[in-house]
Amino acid sequence: GKVAVLFGGRSGEREVSLKSGSAVLAALQRQGVDAHAFDPATEDLSALKAFDRAFIALHGRYGEDGTIQGALELMDIPYTGSGVMASALGMDKWRTKLLWTAAGVVTPNYVLMDDSTHAENVVTALGLPLFVKPANEGSSIGVSKVKQASDLVTAYTLAKQSDPLVIVEQFVGGGEYTVGILGETALPIVRIVPKNEYYDYEAKYLRDDTEYRCPSGLSAEQEKQIQAEALQAFNVLGCKGWGRVDFLMDERGRHYFLEVNTSPGMTDHSLVPMAAKAAGLDFDALVVRILQQTLF
Ligand code: DAL
Ligand code: MG
Repeated sequence: GKVAVLFGGRSGEREVSLKSGSAVLAALQRQGVDAHAFDPATEDLSALKAFDRAFIALHGRYGEDGTIQGALELMDIPYTGSGVMASALGMDKWRTKLLWTAAGVVTPNYVLMDDSTHAENVVTALGLPLFVKPANEGSSIGVSKVKQASDLVTAYTLAKQSDPLVIVEQFVGGGEYTVGILGETALPIVRIVPKNEYYDYEAKYLRDDTEYRCPSGLSAEQEKQIQAEALQAFNVLGCKGWGRVDFLMDERGRHYFLEVNTSPGMTDHSLVPMAAKAAGLDFDALVVRILQQTLF
């Protein structure tokens, strides 16, 4: 049947999604799938009725947050990845933390900040440096690493441009990692070593000096343990199909789960393709595997 590759969209991650979607489209076409690009930002959604399945390569709001998933449900078009509820939860870093904490999944300490929050109280609670993040955004857009209390308000103002809900999170400084999820299994863990202060938008997509380590350098035992916990973290939110769970390590080797991405990047710099490759699946095979999930 005909497959729509949904890409673009109208979130802050539009540019990233255009890259993900183009790569996915090319892979499907190479594999002989009758695939076509579809940008919900510029095309009428009702035109999706001409398709049998959808591969969601959208990121962020209106693409990864349950809204397009709901539209596809109403049109009876099977789609890749998580459903409405899990997508909405995964998009929201605060609700993700609430559920994870309830389920015993460890996540960095945080506070919610609003216009009446005193910067000193935040710094007393979490120390410095710290991270300020919009709760609903991706690709590190609107995120700041704050090293001195006097920079907190500026960081808050920036985050608020992306989302009214702003999270201030404790710094965890032992390393950045991610676990790709494909079907019911966790892929090999990737360690990210950015040359920037942290793995920000620039380090993610624009710089070529970000280092990716797979194997991750974790002991086999720790890798297995964290993969199992990542699957649990994924399942607690009700996620399915595929995704990516990001975590940090502290200096003492303890790990903290940050968030889940229910429609992770599929660009040539992206992490799930890297992890899949380490597991013996090239990009085309990965894309076909993800699409096949829409058959069940
Ligand atoms: N939000 C970006 C696309 C990612 O997680 O890969
Ligand atoms: Mg994300």
